[in-house]
Amino acid sequence: MRITVLTGAGISAESGLATFRGDDGLWENHRVEDVATPQAFIRDPVLVHRFYNQRRANLARVDPNAAHHALAQLARMHDLTLVTQNVDNLHERGGSPDVIHMHGELNRALCAACDHRWDAPALMHRADPCPACGQTATRPDIVWFGEMPYHMERIWAALEQSDLFAAIGTSGNVYPAAGFAQHAARMGTRCFELNLADSANARDFDQRITGPASQTVPEWIASL
Ligand code: APR
Repeated sequence: MRITVLTGAGISAESGLATFRGDDGLWENHRVEDVATPQAFIRDPVLVHRFYNQRRANLARVDPNAAHHALAQLARMHDLTLVTQNVDNLHERGGSPDVIHMHGELNRALCAACDHRWDAPALMHRADPCPACGQTATRPDIVWFGEMPYHMERIWAALEQSDLFAAIGTSGNVYPAAGFAQHAARMGTRCFELNLADSANARDFDQRITGPASQTVPEWIASL
């Protein structure tokens, strides 16, 4: 069976990583405008790098949970396209072989001058010279608000060819990801939502499975 899964911050919540719009909201500590936009990076690259250096340090201290491991198992059972909005590496560390990071990756660096990408050091600074062009325009390889998400051609194609689509731990607030269920449903794909509560686009799904991902994801996969 061909399955496309989209994950959001909720799948990493039980690993200890803050979500964006929950009570422990990551953005509450920093106004979005202060850290996750190209303008913020031009205005205050030191603050932006400090924010992502802290998130990279947090990530190094947490582990994947049962939901991440269950999706690695799903990839061994079916033709799975795993798309994540998350910039953490918990899917990879949970054993998933092929992860599409549509919002980039915390552990990758990008040269704003020549577009070269490389594995990020634990602490990144704007003055770090690009290994390819030598210029000092290093930024996190994160898709900021107002920038184009990565790998969209591959994602739209997967949604159009899938038998099942599931959105796990995402609030359905940010497009284009929030439109994936509608796009899949137009192709006759059965859509599942696995979340603690109804998302903003809950009406787009055929079935909603409520509960913590570490419980609902293994149970859902066992039911397939
Ligand atoms: N199990 C399942 N779902 C959970 C859990 C859990 N343990 N904990 C929280 N959730 C759900 C919440 O109910 C919510 O619907 O996860 C969702 C988290 O929503 P957001 O914090 O908005 O995260 P996300 O949907 O991934 O945000 C999308 O917005 O800020 C931008 O680029 C950023 O990729 C991010 C995008």
